[in-house]
Amino acid sequence: MARIGIFFGTDTGRTRLVAKQIAKKLGEDAAAPANIGRTTLDEFLAYDALILGSPTLGDGELPGQSVGLAQPSWEEFLPLLADCYLAGKVVAIFGLGDQKNTRKNSSTPSASSTMPWSRAAPGPSATGPDCVKTVNENR
Ligand SMILES: Cc1cc2nc3c(=O)[nH]c(=O)nc-3n(C[C@H](O)[C@H](O)[C@H](O)COP(=O)(O)O)c2cc1C
Repeated sequence: MARIGIFFGTDTGRTRLVAKQIAKKLGEDAAAPANIGRTTLDEFLAYDALILGSPTLGDGELPGQSVGLAQPSWEEFLPLLADCYLAGKVVAIFGLGDQKNTRKNSSTPSASSTMPWSRAAPGPSATGPDCVKTVNENR
């Protein structure tokens, strides 16, 4: 199994294209990029290294159904991580946005600030109903 998981959300497909370019550069170390809206928690937690991509949509928001996407995306997936044990995972985030036309809500700071990676420090084991896997259980 590849060591690096690449997951993306997207509306019009650009973030998927960037994810594919990153995967191509990484070669066999990386799995094929997967749409986070079609990813299970088990699939996500199976990797110790994660590359996560998101556009900024709405008014500086993550993609998801509240900003008009037909399918679930980061907005729906992130709450699943609330009780997960993320210690030890290496996470990189890339963001797409239109800084020229939506400068006040530029992509990287707004979207990424809502991701829970500040909790990647040691914390309680996963016990919540939405997360039954710890990092170690997935190895
Ligand atoms: C409805 C809508 C809202 C957007 N809102 C923002 C925003 O608040 N800030 C920003 O930087 N870019 C914004 N953008 C630009 C997108 O983030 C940018 O076009 C991105 O490349 C789209 O990626 P995707 O093709 O993966 O969906 C918005 C685009 C759309 C269509």
